[in-house]
Amino acid sequence: MRIGTPLSDTAVRVMLLGAGELGKEVAIELQRLGAEVVAVDRYPNAPAMQVAHRSHVIPMTDPQVLNGVIMAEAPHIIVPEIEAIATDVLAAIEAAGMATIIPTARATQLTMNREGIRRLVAEELGLLTSPYAFAGSAMEIADAAHRIGLPVFVKPVMSSSGKGQSYVEALEDCANAWAYAQSGGRVETTRVIVEGRIDFDFEITLLTVRSLRDGQVVTDFCDPIGHRQVKGDYVESWQPQPMSSAALTAAQDIAREVTDALGGLGLFGVELFVKDDQVWFSEVSPRPHDTGLVTLASQRFSEFAIHARAILGLPVDVSRTDIAASAVIYGGMDAQGIAFEGVDHALSVPTADIRLFGKPESFEHRRMGVALARGDTTDQARDRAREAASRVKPVRG
Ligand SMILES: Nc1ncnc2c1ncn2[C@@H]1O[C@H](COP(=O)(O)OP(=O)(O)OP(=O)(O)O)[C@@H](O)[C@H]1O
Ligand SMILES: [Mg+2]
Repeated sequence: MRIGTPLSDTAVRVMLLGAGELGKEVAIELQRLGAEVVAVDRYPNAPAMQVAHRSHVIPMTDPQVLNGVIMAEAPHIIVPEIEAIATDVLAAIEAAGMATIIPTARATQLTMNREGIRRLVAEELGLLTSPYAFAGSAMEIADAAHRIGLPVFVKPVMSSSGKGQSYVEALEDCANAWAYAQSGGRVETTRVIVEGRIDFDFEITLLTVRSLRDGQVVTDFCDPIGHRQVKGDYVESWQPQPMSSAALTAAQDIAREVTDALGGLGLFGVELFVKDDQVWFSEVSPRPHDTGLVTLASQRFSEFAIHARAILGLPVDVSRTDIAASAVIYGGMDAQGIAFEGVDHALSVPTADIRLFGKPESFEHRRMGVALARGDTTDQARDRAREAASRVKPVRG
């Protein structure tokens, strides 16, 4: 394993496909380790572009354009940060041995579609998930909901961050759920997953890392992260989430099986539902997870630093040093080039830290930053993080 000099013939070139706030932190960590970083996204001045050596603005769902950029840059490692990518191109690059896809091209293909990962986990691996069915019309949603039992969640198979998702409590709402899925999916949706509701006590993200140690792939688990979701999007997270040792063992067993099946190197965010000692698999991101932003305050190495190390073939350290929490800062308005007031006030909350992502355009519910804080208890850390976030006031530029 060797790392060269960026911008020279010896450079280890890493291309990020998706240059959002999670990619920005990964880019910073890669820079620290001496990698050459190329950031790619659909729009200019995306967060990770602002800290990369070079950047490209392209439609990443266009196979020809994506392939062209990869050929021109000839990266050694390609790191997808979002799901809306022409993953067939990645499969071809991997098959030709031209670059390493993180974690693997197959993993990016399986996880970009809820159907792929759900069938793998529930039908091939036989792990516990919510009851589910796939539907291609309002009528099929109603059928599935009837079979599964209300209430159900209806989600486009190609979507994330709660987009196009409905919570259906009555059969007459199936038509609305179908229409909403059509409008909110990433691509013109022809399919949704209908999931029975799991009546969980709490949900966690189990950050799971596959890395090389003495030439062997080993799996490590960060402490469980608890989080609260509103309309399918995370608003606050904390680490550790207390849970029974039986539930933790079950969670780690599931995460290990799923990440073994996906393969490759890197960090995964395994989303799980927990009730008493029982654990259900929900979904998995083959990359750092938004709820894992808390690790910027809680761990010796954040999930981003861990991911950077793992993908470079370096050993990782997942130890937690603090109890901490994160709280999201939203744009609160639709505008370009907004400003943030009260950052000084926010940072006067004990232990508080802050990230402003630098996104060029704000939307009312767009995540523009995050507040972090530590505490003696998760409740104290959460109170501090929420307080710090609330003190940051987005204003028109
Ligand atoms: N079957 C279910 N039972 C109970 N709650 C659910 C179920 N499916 C989804 N939820 C709730 O909705 C949230 C979002 O669902 P999910 O993670 O599938 O969507 P997503 O669009 O991928 O969101 P993200 O990209 O933020 O992870 C979950 O974290 C959970 O709180
Ligand atoms: Mg999720």
